[in-house]
Amino acid sequence: MERLQKYIAEAGYTSRRKAEELIKQGKVEVNGEIVTELGFKVNGKEQVIVEGNLLKREEKEYYLLNKPRSIITSVCDDKGRKTVVDLVDTKKRIFPIGRLDYDTTGALLLTNDGEFANILMHPNSKVDKVYIAKLRGVIKGEAINRLKNGVIIDGRKTKKCRVKLRKTDLKNNTSMVEITIHEGRNHQVKKMFHEVGFEVLKLKRERVGIFTLQGLKSGNYRRLTPKEVSVIYSLKK
Ligand code: URA
Repeated sequence: MERLQKYIAEAGYTSRRKAEELIKQGKVEVNGEIVTELGFKVNGKEQVIVEGNLLKREEKEYYLLNKPRSIITSVCDDKGRKTVVDLVDTKKRIFPIGRLDYDTTGALLLTNDGEFANILMHPNSKVDKVYIAKLRGVIKGEAINRLKNGVIIDGRKTKKCRVKLRKTDLKNNTSMVEITIHEGRNHQVKKMFHEVGFEVLKLKRERVGIFTLQGLKSGNYRRLTPKEVSVIYSLKK
């Protein structure tokens, strides 16, 4: 169930604020009755008429993108730079779920389904986000244990997480580390490594929950299957 004004806005008819005004003005009918109450809830099966127009529920779309470097994760950019949304060929107003930095590559989901996005981002859903970080320097067990147990970034400790050393390159003085977190704090992975004394030279997200980059070249994307969408909905508490 969702509030009528949100339903009208999500159908793409107008903004939520304008929808509230239309409701108050008695211009919205639900199943043949005028509704003027802002708290009114609908489940999506009703017939909703706004200013004489029958609302069509916007179809939901879901994509998995292999984000390349040098692309910003937002819907639009005030400097006119290319965004992740520009890479997907759709007329729907999709948005990225969470954020990858400009120079971070890898798995990013996009949708126009706000509820789906909320489920994926909610800490209770405990969705794995698996990153591969290339570090300057050779990392040792002690630093890895500190990361696993949580480090303080921006004044708050990070949750326990999984960290695996994939390889070290003594000649070039670098390490490859796999880190799996459930949180999605701003620049979290880079800040965590910085906290234990390492600079992240490259960062790639290999997996978000059940979504891997298998079969997706950099810059390519695919639609999620209905089965995949339902797996995420089943995480709803
Ligand atoms: N953590 C970061 O530091 N950057 C990202 O892009 C994602 C997670």
